[in-house]
This record gives sequence, structure tokens and C-alpha cells, in this order.
Amino acid sequence: MITAVAHPNIALIKYWGKSDEELIIPSTSSISVTLDAYKTQTSIELLDDARTDSGTLNGIAIEGEELSRISGFLQHIRNISGRSEFARIVSVNTVPTAAGLASSASGFAALAVAATQAYGLKLSQRELSQIARRGSGSAARSLFGGMAIWNAGTDDRTSFAEQLQWHGEELEVIVGVINANRKHTSSREAMRNTALTSPYYSSWVTSNSDLVLEALEAIKSGDLDRLGKLTELSTMRMHAVMMAANPPVRYLEPESLQLFDAVLDLRNLGKKIFATADAGPNVKMLCSAEDAEYTLHLLQEEFPNFSFLKSKVGGPPRVL
Ligand code: PMV
Repeated sequence: MITAVAHPNIALIKYWGKSDEELIIPSTSSISVTLDAYKTQTSIELLDDARTDSGTLNGIAIEGEELSRISGFLQHIRNISGRSEFARIVSVNTVPTAAGLASSASGFAALAVAATQAYGLKLSQRELSQIARRGSGSAARSLFGGMAIWNAGTDDRTSFAEQLQWHGEELEVIVGVINANRKHTSSREAMRNTALTSPYYSSWVTSNSDLVLEALEAIKSGDLDRLGKLTELSTMRMHAVMMAANPPVRYLEPESLQLFDAVLDLRNLGKKIFATADAGPNVKMLCSAEDAEYTLHLLQEEFPNFSFLKSKVGGPPRVL
């Protein structure tokens, strides 16, 4: 039995839409930071006599579409390894599932690490990220601690994530949980709808690709103010392009926007804090570690109904 632990990542410059749905090749590159808070721990055991894959997530049997997705992912690993045993997995995810808090990123990163090892594969980080990508695109970035870029590429070989070195001050992330319920539309479905029907989709692709280049410069020079503002820009552009789809996709709630406003107020007080949200209403705030405690305190006072959590930047997955 092999057990691996991985952490979620939050996108600074977003991934939204694929150029190849089957291989999960994104339309643009994206950049993320891995969180230390929350984790997924996944154990896998290969069974000589099983006729299907099986498993549990947080103690509940994995079934239906979720099981087919995981089984398809394991089949890809079996094909590479040349082995045929089915597997049993036991996964415990402390990230609220499907609430825009990147549960699939940590989930598929942990499974990629545990399963490739169980099937006897010895892979580079790049190869592992290519495999994790096939489970959930954003999982490719959770193969790395700190910051990572997922290079869009054009095929299986050229679409992979790699480490980025942040040269600035120490960072923390505050997660504001407004609503931890399962999202109404999966990101997979929402991306497809956006790419097919949003009249702004091609502008999104070109403008977000420009943001990636700018963010790389900000990361290289350790410029938090610039990186944070680019993060907010990519966030708003992503939500705008999906709101223009037909039917519109809206993950942000009025409370999410209240948090974006509060973050702007904190910046006007001189605090280095920047907000982002993914496929859900919850708001993640990138801030300088120096300002984290104080801004967390103010946010808790202003929004007693939301739950907040402060996280350090996380490391790469590990095998226990
Ligand atoms: O990897 P997925 O299919 O869960 O999509 C993630 C999409 C966003 O979280 C909204 C953006 C991103 O880059 O992570």
C-alpha cells in the first residue's frame, strides 16, 4: 500500500478552457501558488483478484461518474506501466469538495503520486505533472510547492507544469469561506460552455496569455504589488468571460464581491493583500506574511458570518 499527501493550489493567473478536452490541453498557460492548509491523503493498493477499481472518499464509496473518472485516470497509468491490476483507493480530503477550493487539484496530485509509485513507474516531476493533468488540469500545478506555471503546450508532451522561484517577501494566503457547498456547475462543464458560447472567449485567451508573461516578470522581480494586481485582473476577466456565456455561468455571489471590496479597503490602508476566486464563491487572498495576522483580524471582525483560514505557502506532495 502506498500513501501520498498533496495540497491544493490557487490560480493566480487562471486556466479557463481547453484546446483539447480529451488530453486536457488548456487554451492558455496558468500560474499558481500551492497552499499549506488543507490536504488530500490518498492510499492505493493493487489487488490481484479485483475486476474493477474501487475506493472511498472521506469514508463514502466512490461511484458513478466520479468512479469512471478515477478509473480512466488509473487506466492511463496502467497503460504506461504495462501492468493490469485493478486498485483500491482510500482518499481523505480536508478541502471542501467542489466548492472552488481546488479539491480536485490536491486529489489528483495525491493520486498521481501514489498510483504511479504503486504501478512501479519512476518519473520526473514533469512527467508526473503530465499524468496529474489528465485527472484535473489544475492538479498538474499541485505537483510543486510554492509557485508553479502550467505551460499550455499543444499536446501531451508539451503541456506540463514546472516550478517557479518567487524572489519576493514571504507570502500567506487567507481563505474566506462564504459557502462550502458543492458548486452548481462543474468547472469542466462551465469551461466547455464558455469556450463554445461566450463571444469574448478569444479575447480572454489572448489577454490571459499576456497576463502570464507579465506575471512571470513580477515573480522574477519579487514584485507582490504587481503580481497581486495581475491576479485580480485575471480573476475578473475569467469571471467576466463565463458570465457572458449562454447560459451564463456565475460562481461569484454578492458576498464574494463584498470580500473583494474589503480587500481593496485594506489596500487603501497600505496593506499588501489581493483577492481571487476560482470556480466557486469563496475568496482567496494573497498577502504579505507581515500583513496576514492583522488583515485576518479585520476581516473576521467585518464578516463574522464567514469562516476564515490563514495558510502558509505549501510544499510539494510527499509519500508517507
Ligand atoms: O482543474 P479544474 O478542472 O478543476 O479547473 C480549475 C479552474 C480554475 O480553478 C477556475 C482556474 C485554475 O486555473 O485553477
